[in-house]
Amino acid sequence: MKALLLAGGLGTRLRPLTENLPKPMAPVANRPWLEHLILHLKEQGIEQFVIAVKHHADTIRNHFGDGRSLGVEIEYAVERQLMGTAGAIKNAESMLSDRFLVLNADIIHQIQLIPLLDFHAKHGGLVTIGLTEVDDPTQYGVVEQTASGRIVRFVEKPPRHAAPSNRVNAGIYVMEKQALRWIPADRETSIERETFPTLIQQTGRVYGTVIRGYWLDMGTLDRYLQLHRDVLDGRFRAQLPYTKKEPGIWIGRGVRMATDVQLVPPVIIGDDVVLERGCTVGPYAVVGDRAVLGRNVHCSRSVIWPDTRLEVSHDLNGVVVSPHFIADCEPDHNRSTQSVEVLQG
Ligand code: GDD
Ligand code: MG
Repeated sequence: MKALLLAGGLGTRLRPLTENLPKPMAPVANRPWLEHLILHLKEQGIEQFVIAVKHHADTIRNHFGDGRSLGVEIEYAVERQLMGTAGAIKNAESMLSDRFLVLNADIIHQIQLIPLLDFHAKHGGLVTIGLTEVDDPTQYGVVEQTASGRIVRFVEKPPRHAAPSNRVNAGIYVMEKQALRWIPADRETSIERETFPTLIQQTGRVYGTVIRGYWLDMGTLDRYLQLHRDVLDGRFRAQLPYTKKEPGIWIGRGVRMATDVQLVPPVIIGDDVVLERGCTVGPYAVVGDRAVLGRNVHCSRSVIWPDTRLEVSHDLNGVVVSPHFIADCEPDHNRSTQSVEVLQG
């Protein structure tokens, strides 16, 4: 079975960090999220991938190539213009198997595929949507179901009072190729706003089942930081290519560190990082490969992206730092306000 990864969106909610980087390529524990996703699916037997790309297509292509370095096969379905979530699937039609998986590549999922695939085979749907339950469904596609799991209504991002439940589209589908007949080939189409409602109405063969496993929409800085806390606490299982020096301290190769540097677990220090005198790193800090932290930088509960250079005496807490920006979260990380400033020098 093939998996189609939708990775062509603009990723506006993580801006400005994702200004020059597609959101699925945002580093998670120093490795692009899309790479974690492909490796996770590979572990469950998926070895053929199609990535639907538009914005930043070259960044993704240059990174993964034909997939050989990850031990999988990757093809690319490139859109000339943005086709929307359904249009992107239609555009990839000739590359897909009779039954295939579709995943929103900007969602962190580490889910168990077998129960989802079994449910799909048993119910005979044209589409089975993986669902998850959330407190606030207004940012998601919300479903109403019968007792057997058949979806009778799908509403994308409804206002609170109009949401039929708190069960939402987790951004993973099992689809039959026949379902593509309901998607027009020549224009932008949304699977959430057009295809699902049409399929529900005309065929009655759209099902949904709650998925098992880790799931997080990393669309805000707060949740992006939460994801890293979950990596460091082991709630999200990431393959870390680093050595565990002491409990909760992972260190890459070629790290140069002054003798008085303090590492407070849990913490990840990537390959070829430089930590100058007086730095304190951790708890809950991830320092990207080749990052340089100048003298007296204190950094906790933060993620520093690869290749970032920080000059002396920064005090960082609850921030994401890329080579060009510091994105700051409020101390209360359940809220999602960010103020952003450009790093000088
Ligand atoms: N190739 C391609 N072309 N990909 C696209 C396009 C397109 O035109 N438009 C969006 N995508 C990709 C995005 O990169 C992302 O990975 C995925 O499709 C979903 O699009 P988003 O724009 O991120 O949608 P959303 O986050 O507002 O909502 C979606 O995800 C929720 C799950 O978190 C919907 O599917 C909701 O129903 C769902 O609940
Ligand atoms: Mg999204």
